[in-house]
Formats: sequence, structure tokens, C-alpha cells
Amino acid sequence: MADRFAGKVAIITGAGRGIGRATAMLLAAEGASVVVNDLGGGPQGGGGNSSVAGEVAEEIRAAGGKAIAETSSVATMEGGQAVVEAAIKEYGRLDILVNNAGIIRPKRIMEMTEADWDMVIGVNLKGYFATVRAAAEHLVKQGGSIVNFSSPSGFGHYGMSNYAAAKEGVVGFTRSIARELGEFGVRANAIRPIAGNSAMAIPEVYETISYSIEKLRIPYISNQWLSDGGVQGLPEHVAALVAWLCSEQASGINGRELYINGGQLSFVQEPELIRTRCNPQGWTLDSLSDAGTIGALTYDQRDRYTGKA
Ligand SMILES: NC(=O)c1ccc[n+]([C@@H]2O[C@H](COP(=O)([O-])OP(=O)(O)OC[C@H]3O[C@@H](n4cnc5c(N)ncnc54)[C@H](O)[C@@H]3O)[C@@H](O)[C@H]2O)c1
Repeated sequence: MADRFAGKVAIITGAGRGIGRATAMLLAAEGASVVVNDLGGGPQGGGGNSSVAGEVAEEIRAAGGKAIAETSSVATMEGGQAVVEAAIKEYGRLDILVNNAGIIRPKRIMEMTEADWDMVIGVNLKGYFATVRAAAEHLVKQGGSIVNFSSPSGFGHYGMSNYAAAKEGVVGFTRSIARELGEFGVRANAIRPIAGNSAMAIPEVYETISYSIEKLRIPYISNQWLSDGGVQGLPEHVAALVAWLCSEQASGINGRELYINGGQLSFVQEPELIRTRCNPQGWTLDSLSDAGTIGALTYDQRDRYTGKA
């Protein structure tokens, strides 16, 4: 056992599998006492195996670490409260909150149901509010770190508008709580990972990706897939980034988003206003329609999402 997080208490949601599991294992191996939250659901929500959280906690304890299992759904306020209460009851404090739980329900917009939308927003966005709402009062006591899981899908993902909306919402949420809680020494950052072995890697996801790329020729974000020497992104790579973000070494990083895929690590550009044109009279439909005035704001690829470009 190493001791980079000795004395710290961490909650990791969705820690029964994938990235969450790897993060719980790493933080525990580095001395943290961890709460392994997972309801053991399927990748599209519902169902599942409620023993997965217990198995990870047991694995950590068998390796000499400190862990308890917690099986609430974070998609409810009661669930968020319960996971935080479990940490306080068992360990008496909270230093790290990793909001990692996630589900997908890939559907094209004309097929997406209200339940598809609500379930995905419920776990991936409201679920992050539910835990932060309950955890904040404990984190501010001594300072700490929140890491929220976003996704490259937030950049725009054919057939996953519910998930993209949730994951982009996570970024705005993270930037906002970083501003609110930074005053009290609590940092909040977001990660957009690519990692293999995901329970969410179901065939429907690959169908939407291949339709988007092969039929519509919609490129990924321009530099998302830089060569990293062929290293496949794994949950352990992402877990290392979570741990680093929660460490003292990252004390200057707050309200940012990072992308990681195996050997590639990038900060995502902060939002900026671009190609600004100022109109002292204020814009009207006529002045906006004047190509001479506003031409520089438009660009030639306007058909690229229609398949005509
Ligand atoms: N793996 C990737 O390539 C990838 C890419 C982009 C984003 N992400 C994001 O990273 C995070 C982890 O992804 P992963 O691939 O390790 O996922 P995974 O599917 O392997 O594991 C997610 C875990 O979350 C749990 N979970 C689901 N709903 C829950 C709820 N309401 N309450 C508690 N637990 C719940 C599941 O039971 C599951 O064990 C997710 O937020 C995901 O959206 C992953």
C-alpha cells in the first residue's frame, strides 16, 4: 500500500465496474478509505446485479485497503444523500467525491422516448447534483476535490442526444460549482474519457458511430484522435488521472475539463466567443440577413451535418 491519500475519505459512484472500479481500487491502494457505490444496473439502466459494489469493496479489503459498499441509485436525491451519509457514518469525514455513475440509451431523436431522456439525464446529470448537494457541506469543512465524468459524446454524438445533453450539462455544472466551492478549498473538474472494457460499449453505440462517420462523413472533433503510440485507453489510465486531479499536485486546477484516451491527455479548450461583429444599433433580422455585414461569421461547411457536403 502506498499512502498518497492516507487519511482521506472518497466516494466513487458507479464503482462496481469499469472506470469507477479502477478508481476505487487505486485510491484505496493509495491509502484512502473508500465508499464503493453501485446499484449494479445494466448499461441502459434498470436491472442488474446488486452484489457488484460488495465484490469490489471485498477485493479492496482483501488487498489490505479500507472500503464499504453502498448500493443506492444516485439518480434520486435520497440516493445521493444515502451515499454521503454512509461515508460520514463509517469514516466521519469526506474529502473526495467522484461522480462516475453513467448509463446510455442510444436512440435517434425521432425514436427517443421521454423515458430514454429522463433516465439518462437522471443518472448522468441529476445524479451528480444529488451527490454534490449532499456532499458539499462536508467537503467545505476541510477542503477537497470533486471529479465529474463527462464524455467526448458531449461534443456532439449522432444517436445519443440525451447522453450528450447530460454530459455537456455536467461540464457547465462542474464549472459552476468550481466557482462556488473554490472559495472553500473544494475543487471541481470534469473528465471526458475514452476507456475500453466499458459495460456501455453495446452494439447500438457502434451502429450510431459508424452511420455518422461512414454515411454522413461527420468527423470527430478535429484533434480528438491523436496518435498515442497505439496504447488502448483503459479504466486504469483514467483512474490515474482522477487520483492526480484529487492530489495536492493539481491544487491549481479548478473548473477545467480534461480528455484522456490511453496515452493521450489534453485539456479541453475553455469556451470562447469567436468571430465577433459588433453592431452599435443592436442586431435586427434585416441587419443579420445582410450578407455583407455578417458574412464573416458564417462558413462554408454549413451542409456538413446534412450529408450534402
Ligand atoms: N468508458 C468510456 O469509454 C467512456 C467514454 C465516455 C464517458 N464515459 C463515462 O465515464 C463513466 C464510467 O464509464 P464506464 O465505461 O466505466 O461505465 P460502466 O458501464 O462500465 O460502469 C458504470 C457503472 O455505473 C453504475 N450505475 C449506473 N447507474 C447508476 C445509478 N443510478 N447509481 C449508482 N450506480 C449506477 C452501473 O451499475 C455500472 O456499474 C460514465 O459516467 C461514462 O458515461 C466513459
